[in-house]
Amino acid sequence: MRRKPVVALDGPVGVGKSTVARKLARRLGFLYIDTGAMYRAVALDALRQGVPLEDFEAVGRRVGSLEIRLVPEDEGTRVFCNGEDVTEAIRAPEVSRATSPIADNPAVRARLVALQRAMGAGGGVVMEGRDIGTVVFPDAEAKFYLDARAEIRAERRARQMEAAGRATDRASILADLLERDRRDRSRPVGALRVADGAEIVDTSDMSEDEVVEALAQRIVRLTFPRPGGRCP
Ligand code: DC
Repeated sequence: MRRKPVVALDGPVGVGKSTVARKLARRLGFLYIDTGAMYRAVALDALRQGVPLEDFEAVGRRVGSLEIRLVPEDEGTRVFCNGEDVTEAIRAPEVSRATSPIADNPAVRARLVALQRAMGAGGGVVMEGRDIGTVVFPDAEAKFYLDARAEIRAERRARQMEAAGRATDRASILADLLERDRRDRSRPVGALRVADGAEIVDTSDMSEDEVVEALAQRIVRLTFPRPGGRCP
């Protein structure tokens, strides 16, 4: 029997990938896999253990001893690292900052890519990250690259923070986002770029629900290319 599709979703920080991926997975009845959470879990562990983030060898040794699990729940995914629920802890600003050097580490990437391939092997997943269509699943049945102008991504981020009652400074949010873009795009392995065969979706003038709808329709057409083809 043909496996269910793998949907690869890549794009820069703040483009709305996580929400879109989660809603899309629910709509299709697929599993949502947030690969950024896995890099964050490794960063949190290194911070807690006092392992220098730039010491590739030490972090590489440590990652081999981590058991990272993603457990789906209604509103997303719970993230476990060596049995501990780190779902909230990995979202702290210092963990976000620490994750960039961790994601540059080839040993970390090799280990996490292997885990991600195992999780998606049976298909029926929406996997979201930076290198899903280029490295993790270059043969995914559906590949998308979500994009939006940096100013728009910064504005969305600022509104999210305001809604959560946090103070915002738009200029520093934009500067931070541009710096993360630069790091994501210049990474020696697993750099963010548009995968061969990926469809670029500019979400600048679309709501999240419109993006989900557009992607869902595209997936149905790609994977069930008959008139009236329906989702599994
Ligand atoms: O999507 P996010 O902000 O949760 O990602 C956290 C960090 O991990 C960010 O620095 C980019 C990096 N990342 C990566 O290098 N490859 C992925 N597949 C996913 C995330």
